[in-house]
Amino acid sequence: MKTLLRVGTSSRTRGSHSRELADFFQQKWLGANPGNEIVLRDLIKDPIPHIGEATIAGYYTPKDEHDETLKSATALSDQLIDELRSADALLISTPMYNFSVPSALKAYIDQIVRIGHTFGFDQEKGFYGLVEGKRAFVVTAIGAVYAGTLAELNFLEPYLKTLLGFLGITEIEVVSLEGTTTDTSALVRSKQAAMEKIETLLANGA
Ligand SMILES: Cc1cc2nc3c(=O)[nH]c(=O)nc-3n(C[C@H](O)[C@H](O)[C@H](O)COP(=O)(O)O)c2cc1C
Repeated sequence: MKTLLRVGTSSRTRGSHSRELADFFQQKWLGANPGNEIVLRDLIKDPIPHIGEATIAGYYTPKDEHDETLKSATALSDQLIDELRSADALLISTPMYNFSVPSALKAYIDQIVRIGHTFGFDQEKGFYGLVEGKRAFVVTAIGAVYAGTLAELNFLEPYLKTLLGFLGITEIEVVSLEGTTTDTSALVRSKQAAMEKIETLLANGA
C-alpha cells in the first residue's frame, strides 16, 4: 500500500482550478493504485500557524534538551515532518499569488524545512536533503500566461522545485495550468492538456 500526501493551498474552496486538477490527480492515482491511501493536508481548512520565536529556538536546540516550551513550540513541525516522511509521494496543488506561493503554503514550508530533520549540513558536503525516495507532483493554477516572454516573473515553479530539491526530493513533476483568468476557450484547452499530462504521468507509474 502506498500513501499520497496531498497538500492543498488555494484559498478558494469552490471554483478553484488547482483543487480541481488535484481532485482529478487523486481520482486517477487511486484508480491506478487500488487500495492506496490519500492523506489530506488542507492548508486553508486547517491553517498552519507561522513559526514563532520558540519554534526557531526549538529547531536549533537538540531535541533531548527541549524543555516544555520548546517541545510544544515544535510539536506541529514534528507532526508535519512525520506526515511527509511517511508518505510515498507528495502532491502539492497551489495557485500563484503575487508571483509566488500563497502565504498558507509558505507557513507550512517554514514548519517542515528543519535542520537535522529534513535537511542537513556539514563542512564537506554543504547542505543535503534528508527526505529521499519520494516523488513529488506539483499542480499549479496561474491567472496569466508566463511561459515564454514572462517566464522570469514566475517565481512559483522554480521556488518549489528548488525547495523540494533542497529537501532531497529530486523526482519532481510539474503540471502548470496558466491563463486561468484570461481567455475562457483557451482555458478549456489548457485544462484538458493538464489533465492529459496527469494521466500520462500516472500511466508511467507514480
Ligand atoms: C491574492 C491573489 C494574487 C494573485 N496573484 C497572481 C499573480 O501574481 N500572477 C497571476 O498570473 N495570477 C495571480 N492571481 C490569479 C491566480 O493565480 C488564479 O486565479 C489561479 O487560478 C488561482 O488558483 P485557484 O483557481 O486554484 O484558486 C492571483 C490571485 C489572487 C487571489
